[in-house]
Amino acid sequence: MSVHFTPAARTDQAAAARAGGSAGPDWSDAEIAGRVDALIAQMGVAEKAGQLTQYFYFNLPRSEDTEAALPADFSPQHAMVEAALARGEVGSLLFITDPAEVNRLQRLAIEGSRHGIPALFGFDVVHGLRTILPVPIAMAASWDPDGIEKGQAVAAREARAAGIHWAFAPMVDIARDPRWGRIVEGAGEDPYLGAAVAVAQVRGFQGDGLGSPDRVIAGPKHLAGYGAALGGRDYDEVNLSDSELWNVYLPPFQAAVEAGAGNIMTAYMDLNGIPATGNHWLLTEVLRETWGFDGFVVSDARAVHNLRTHGFAADLTDAGARAVKAGVDMEMAMVDPAYAHLPEAVGANLVDEEVLDASVRRVLTAKVRMGLFDQPYVDEERARKVLADPAHRAVARIAAQRSAVLLRNEGDLLPLTGPGSIAVIGPLADSRRDTIGPWAFDFDLNETVTVLEGIRNRAGEGVEVGYAPGIRPAQRTFPSMFDMFGNNAPVIPAEFDEDAERDRAVTLAGESDVAVLVLGEWQNMIGEAASRSSLELPGGQLALLQAVVATGTPVVLLVMNGRPLDLRWAAENVPAILDIWYPGTQGGAAVADVIFGDVAPGGKLPFSWPRAVGQVPVIYSHTISHQPGDQGRRYWDEASTPLFPFGHGLSYSRFEYSDLTLDRVQIQGGETVTVSVTVTNAGERTADEVAQLYIHQRYGSASRPSRELKGFRRITLAAGESQTLRFPLGPHELRYWNAATRAWVIDTTTIDVFAGGDSTAELTTSFTVGTCAC
Ligand code: BGC
Repeated sequence: MSVHFTPAARTDQAAAARAGGSAGPDWSDAEIAGRVDALIAQMGVAEKAGQLTQYFYFNLPRSEDTEAALPADFSPQHAMVEAALARGEVGSLLFITDPAEVNRLQRLAIEGSRHGIPALFGFDVVHGLRTILPVPIAMAASWDPDGIEKGQAVAAREARAAGIHWAFAPMVDIARDPRWGRIVEGAGEDPYLGAAVAVAQVRGFQGDGLGSPDRVIAGPKHLAGYGAALGGRDYDEVNLSDSELWNVYLPPFQAAVEAGAGNIMTAYMDLNGIPATGNHWLLTEVLRETWGFDGFVVSDARAVHNLRTHGFAADLTDAGARAVKAGVDMEMAMVDPAYAHLPEAVGANLVDEEVLDASVRRVLTAKVRMGLFDQPYVDEERARKVLADPAHRAVARIAAQRSAVLLRNEGDLLPLTGPGSIAVIGPLADSRRDTIGPWAFDFDLNETVTVLEGIRNRAGEGVEVGYAPGIRPAQRTFPSMFDMFGNNAPVIPAEFDEDAERDRAVTLAGESDVAVLVLGEWQNMIGEAASRSSLELPGGQLALLQAVVATGTPVVLLVMNGRPLDLRWAAENVPAILDIWYPGTQGGAAVADVIFGDVAPGGKLPFSWPRAVGQVPVIYSHTISHQPGDQGRRYWDEASTPLFPFGHGLSYSRFEYSDLTLDRVQIQGGETVTVSVTVTNAGERTADEVAQLYIHQRYGSASRPSRELKGFRRITLAAGESQTLRFPLGPHELRYWNAATRAWVIDTTTIDVFAGGDSTAELTTSFTVGTCAC
């Protein structure tokens, strides 16, 4: 059976594309395998290497100033990629978001290929394409898998409509060191929460599976350990113990694979001395043989090429051969792909052609499943409509409301009820670009609502809203590589009288009933290549905050961030602190919903919030060691507890936990105990609570963490309402990887159970586990 497409067939495809939507193929697995194998049998080795190569092709809006900052090989790169397309030697392209450009390049791919093979288009659809959702760490802070799934389904719908088939997301790297800028892209420090968020995102992107209409391939990344970069420095080496790797860093990947993710991206750095992108153990023994992953693996950008840079591969031919043998099906390349040397590597017997065939089979199977052979082109008119769908912005607004975390609320300053005047202060309060956050390129700033605009729109008649930035935006010492794209760098006002602006802000605050300060990091200070050596509020923000607080006007601090910042002074001197993260397109509207009390905040921290940078990493799930009573006094100059614990988040209401019971107090290993706990809204208004369940194993064949999250549920309760929640604790929750036996074990032991609203929960009970029946 051949799947060669004649020109007539291509015309049919274009007609099908014009009909709109994405038609998943109705082919059975056997039919797909037959068609793919028939194609492979007709392909030459250069065509195969081409199918395994993905090229960057930037067509993002760029300002004139930044044109100069582009890599020297940028324009020739377009010509080089188009020449490769004409030879039928491109498997995939990335960074194209314009549907017309997708169609043009797709036509080149199909017409250039002797077999009419279409290209896959991939993009970093990290938290939305046009409609930008809150950043991923914020979505994780919602502890709301259903909401996260809905959000990423919107992102997928927009991406697919624009012609993108594949999202390089979710990032499921555990991050325990907030100096690492990419903490903003993940779900924080905890493997259980991380796995739940990973699964929700995979479902959101992919729907019921590859080829679902309006969905894209999910590409969890970066396998593995990237978040543990030495010193929090992006791309630096990672050294993880066997126990940390299996118990902490790998579970979100395994969960994403079990949820059916169609792709996995490798990591840039060395993992325990071996580059992740050349790591056969990781990519083949763990990913494919242990977890049964049957999708395709892509390298991170230039990571195959970089095997030479790492001092691992001798040259590009060696790099290509070793990466493909390790299990990297596709190389993400910019210029000079290592996989262009695969024909040479096959000729020199460095790699068997069958290894290439296996990778080509995986890539072509994904293309068939995504319906690309049936419908390679995109309907540009439909794309415009889908991207403008107001329903998407409604989802983004709810996502932002649900992400907000109330860190402190002395004297119930929030919600604001009836102030006559509000002073909104800080440059971030009125910056559309920063409200969106990092890893967004295709946004529409006209659709974006800043905090100032949200407050103005909501405050209503009779409330005076004044604004003063107070200071200029702070800047990085070293510029961001993302600044080269238009609209991405902060706008620094040319004329700015610092003293006068500071005085104006302080005076405005002093004359107002309440001051709302929006402080944090500018969005180009967080994300990839945005590591920091400090967690302080950049620029003159702390001084501004202190001057405003000194006026005596009550202060609400809204923190715009993707990592914890040093808020020690604020936590003692500012009555209300709400973490709003980078809340996305509808951010300002959602923030207004929360601060005026239209909805109550219900988010919880997905990481332990350190007091200062010297504490990092600080995690709630540390093991218990010598002098446990001094756990909070491990430093002589500062408490060693976090400023806010993992799972912390206040509400406008108050919740009580009671009746923590078990359906049995003794089980055999392999059996399941069901925990019940009753949560009561003891306050006076409807609000959400995230009930959390933690365990501690008292003894066993390894020391286990003092607490481990093993269940959570976000619920809405009316005033006075109670709900009894049930959580199973079975093999999945009780097993762990034992580094001594190098195996998963369930110990004979006693397990303490804790339930409550954060990781310091005190309500407790316990059960025993007998010899494993497994
Ligand atoms: C990042 C990836 C991203 C890729 C493509 C890399 O630098 O590490 O996460 O998907 O670029 O943009």
